[in-house]
Amino acid sequence: MEIRIEKNLSPKAKPTDASALGFGKIFTDHMFMMDYDRENGWHDARIVPYGDLAISPAATVLHYGAEIFEGLKAYRRPDGEIQLFRPWDNFERMNNSADRLCLPKLDPEFALKALKALINLDRDWVPSAEGTSLYIRPFLFGNDPFLGVHTVNKAMFVIILSPSGSYYKEGVNPVRIMIETEDVRAVRGGTGYAKCGGNYAASMRAGEKAEQKGFAQVLWLDGVERKYVEEVGSMNVMFKISGTVVTPKLTGSVLPGVTRRSCIALLQSWGVPVEERLLSVQELEDAVRNGTLEEAFGCGTAAVVSPIGELSVDDVPYVVNGGKIGPITQRLYGELTGIQWGRRPDTFGWTEIVK
Ligand code: COI
Repeated sequence: MEIRIEKNLSPKAKPTDASALGFGKIFTDHMFMMDYDRENGWHDARIVPYGDLAISPAATVLHYGAEIFEGLKAYRRPDGEIQLFRPWDNFERMNNSADRLCLPKLDPEFALKALKALINLDRDWVPSAEGTSLYIRPFLFGNDPFLGVHTVNKAMFVIILSPSGSYYKEGVNPVRIMIETEDVRAVRGGTGYAKCGGNYAASMRAGEKAEQKGFAQVLWLDGVERKYVEEVGSMNVMFKISGTVVTPKLTGSVLPGVTRRSCIALLQSWGVPVEERLLSVQELEDAVRNGTLEEAFGCGTAAVVSPIGELSVDDVPYVVNGGKIGPITQRLYGELTGIQWGRRPDTFGWTEIVK
């Protein structure tokens, strides 16, 4: 399929202060879009000036939440080239999410071609200051102008780009996380493993409560027994207990994170034992009490590798590693960001230059 390009004739001024970028607030001059209907499949692929979308007030996404999304980044290398990190994994996950929500799947190769064409047009928006990148948000939603609850006949796929700095105001400094004991995010058999907007909508109340109490985010427990830890608001989570890194296993209600997978591969390549298994809050509390909880950190595309300095359970604070970043977290952060920004060799074949 050809991609039609309509250039933005009124480009915006690019941000000059990298330290004020924040996350997901500024958007580039263009966006990619294409439409789907059952008769024609995906069609009318186009790159157009960034702007509002026109959709029917009856569109399925607005009433029944038929929406999935992805998050990945483009990085400015020291030699000035731009590279993507494991983009194939994101489009593969997007198709798994599409499957769960009965939304039409993408041709991953075409999606990557479209993304590269978009980045190429907005190349000058990829920031180069330390810790900054171009956050990429592909999303896909049901667009039938029909109020019946039914799988969709029409959909739209869009990619927008946002030059961003760090997700947390804390940067790489440890964040405080609150274990949520009332609301749950997802249950097995539900949509927890899919990256769909609804999962995040269901998370907002607890997120708000945590924020009011001064926490960065919540740590979710499993939806059935409310006993096992699953993930943090915008990232997967890992704990180093007695020398082993333990991370919640993918039970169906946990998001299969690309950064999670990358951290596991890096840790294993260093000979650090990793266990993907159920991990109860009780086990964590015991590990804090007997001094075997050595480090805790979250990992995600937006959050990168983010140390957790404090975990709060029912208003009881548990400080991890004296509230400081631990050695394994620091090493993972250094190696992962080194590969992502092209400063260290990519022996895993995870990166792809945008030509
Ligand atoms: C990402 O890490 O890219 C995410 O999608 C998390 C997001 C909800 C901020």
